[in-house]
Amino acid sequence: MLTNQRHLFSLDSDICYLNNAFMAPSLKSVEEAGIAAVKAKNNPYHLGVTDFYDPVIDLKKEFAKLVDCDDHERIVSLASVSYGISTVAHNTCLNHGDEILLAEEQFPSNVYAWTRRAKQSGACIRFAEAGEGNSRGRDWNVNLLEMINDRTAVVSIGNIHWADGTLFDLKAIREKTKKHNALFIIDGTQSVGALPFSIKEIKPDALICAGYKWLMGPYSTAIGYFGEYFDQGIPIEENWYNRINSEQFADLVNYREEYKPKAGRFAVGESSNFILLPMFKKALEQLNVWTPLAIQEYCKSITTNACEQLRALGCWIEEDQHRAHHLFGVKLPSHMDKDELKQKFAQHNIHVSMRGEFVRISMHVYNTEEDLNTFINVLKQ
Ligand SMILES: Cc1ncc(COP(=O)(O)O)c(C=O)c1O
Repeated sequence: MLTNQRHLFSLDSDICYLNNAFMAPSLKSVEEAGIAAVKAKNNPYHLGVTDFYDPVIDLKKEFAKLVDCDDHERIVSLASVSYGISTVAHNTCLNHGDEILLAEEQFPSNVYAWTRRAKQSGACIRFAEAGEGNSRGRDWNVNLLEMINDRTAVVSIGNIHWADGTLFDLKAIREKTKKHNALFIIDGTQSVGALPFSIKEIKPDALICAGYKWLMGPYSTAIGYFGEYFDQGIPIEENWYNRINSEQFADLVNYREEYKPKAGRFAVGESSNFILLPMFKKALEQLNVWTPLAIQEYCKSITTNACEQLRALGCWIEEDQHRAHHLFGVKLPSHMDKDELKQKFAQHNIHVSMRGEFVRISMHVYNTEEDLNTFINVLKQ
């Protein structure tokens, strides 16, 4: 069982930070890697050809380990989730009348690329709606599964909903998409790193994750997995790095038609980012030491009492089996004044996110049960 790890972070001591889903604070080790990397640029003559490739391979291996994937060549560095999903959408074959299935109110980076492709191809977007009342999460899954049919070309959703933590049943969705020959694309941004995820088990066609939340890396990093469906895909930008044999610097103007194999063809230009990449790698190393399972269990252990108390106060929280424990929404009693509450949170240095009718709280191994109590005490006031 993990114990509290706040000593590994430089978070201000008087802050109650329940907003990892917005942005993770840097680990000290990540900060140090970043400073060393910034300093290294003072003397760029130390950089050799292998520095453009080896750290990228190490990063891929670290992520492959985190998501239980045997082949690091199926992992690729991306610039953002929108970049990754655009790459996926541009390489998804869509015909007139096909359906693209998303969850309602999912994050826009996993919507806009699909709306563009739908317009181009005559496919249509369908949104699976959340359930009502106490069976919100359960019915959301039922609705989603019922909407998968022979017209479904692709289902592209998160492992959990980004605003309220509702868990989507990936195994069941994978099974049904296979049955109907539909692709299954996962935006793992709000879960991978803090919730166990296995490529071997789920076998998605692609998984895309931002680096700066549950992967604990710097902003402007993202990483993805691409399955065999995309092996002949075309990247959304033409850079030298993702062409075959780009390692041969002296021969770069011997232009090549062919891309790197597997996911390597989708690598973002300047993938070997000498500052962000060492930071990202340090973060992933730490996650692999902690393990997503232990992080999830830690979050559960510090929130179990809090959820009981919040429910007793009249707040609604999704049934435990249909939500994550590192991120969930707290629906406030209707009489509560949200603007006043926001002011109170600010006065007490409490950082959460207001998402629609929910207060989204999200935590990590730097949080304690005490943080949850601080949050509850303000609600009680
Ligand atoms: C579910 C989800 N996906 C993606 C992102 C970020 O997308 P992008 O990297 O395109 O900015 C966020 C940010 O909050 C998110 O919550």
